[in-house]
Amino acid sequence: MTATDDGFSALKRFIEQTLKIQCNNYKEDYIKRRLLSRMRSTATTTYPDYLRYLHEHPPELENLRNALTINVTEFFRDADVYDLIKKEILPALFHGRKSVRIWCAGCSTGEEPYSIAMILHDMMALDKSLSGQITATDIDEVVLKKAKEGIYSEKAMGKLSAAQVQRHFTKLPDGNYQVKPHLQELIRFRPHDLMSGQPISRYLDMITCRNVTIYFTEKQKDELARMFHSALVPGGYYVMGKTEYLGREVEGLFTPINSLQKVYTKKD
Ligand SMILES: C[S@@+](CC[C@H](N)C(=O)[O-])C[C@H]1O[C@@H](n2cnc3c(N)ncnc32)[C@H](O)[C@@H]1O
Repeated sequence: MTATDDGFSALKRFIEQTLKIQCNNYKEDYIKRRLLSRMRSTATTTYPDYLRYLHEHPPELENLRNALTINVTEFFRDADVYDLIKKEILPALFHGRKSVRIWCAGCSTGEEPYSIAMILHDMMALDKSLSGQITATDIDEVVLKKAKEGIYSEKAMGKLSAAQVQRHFTKLPDGNYQVKPHLQELIRFRPHDLMSGQPISRYLDMITCRNVTIYFTEKQKDELARMFHSALVPGGYYVMGKTEYLGREVEGLFTPINSLQKVYTKKD
């Protein structure tokens, strides 16, 4: 099956208007690959065919949104990174202040901010003078709704220890697990488009933006790094995904702390 370019622009316009996803911010190849996967699933062969299908089958819009904003995530994804956050980054931040502000950008269904909240909560339990606030954002309001609810299947709990599950979750009658209020109180979930160029604050101590930029263009990645630089306090931490990297144009803005775990601090 092939998809010709005919009708691609019209389909992009429809996506931008309906799903509010700016296709031009992504590599064209990426958009086309995701569209092709949905076209295979809906047995359509051309872009106009698929556009017609979308008009006639509104539920397909959600499938398309999911395909374009791949939401895969898990608790403590890359355990070594969370180890570093727990043993080095947060202790270093709390050395200079009693309260930390964290932005978890591209948080998907919430596993990443809840993992950080577990670490934060345990530190705060040991020293009552400490406090913290996590703002977790995503472009996709469907995943944000799930993140706010904080309900996860038994399978999603795989990487958590029995002690973590007991401390931070309530088992529901249907076998799922719900995050306890003490973690939810540490996090504010809200929609935000990382392509907007607008930081959520300019006083952040740590930003995690992991496994989000893999499909951004080089220019978009550089702009994002500049935006994060402007959002961090001097010496604030920027934690990237392990397969992501800082482009040449912006690497001078940050000091690498750990090249394997892709942790940087803001240079003044
Ligand atoms: C693969 S998930 C990563 C989740 C989590 N950070 C992790 O590493 O496990 C990527 C997330 O980035 C979000 N995303 C993609 N483009 C975005 C944008 N322009 N602004 C904000 N979030 C975006 C997607 O909706 C998705 O939930």
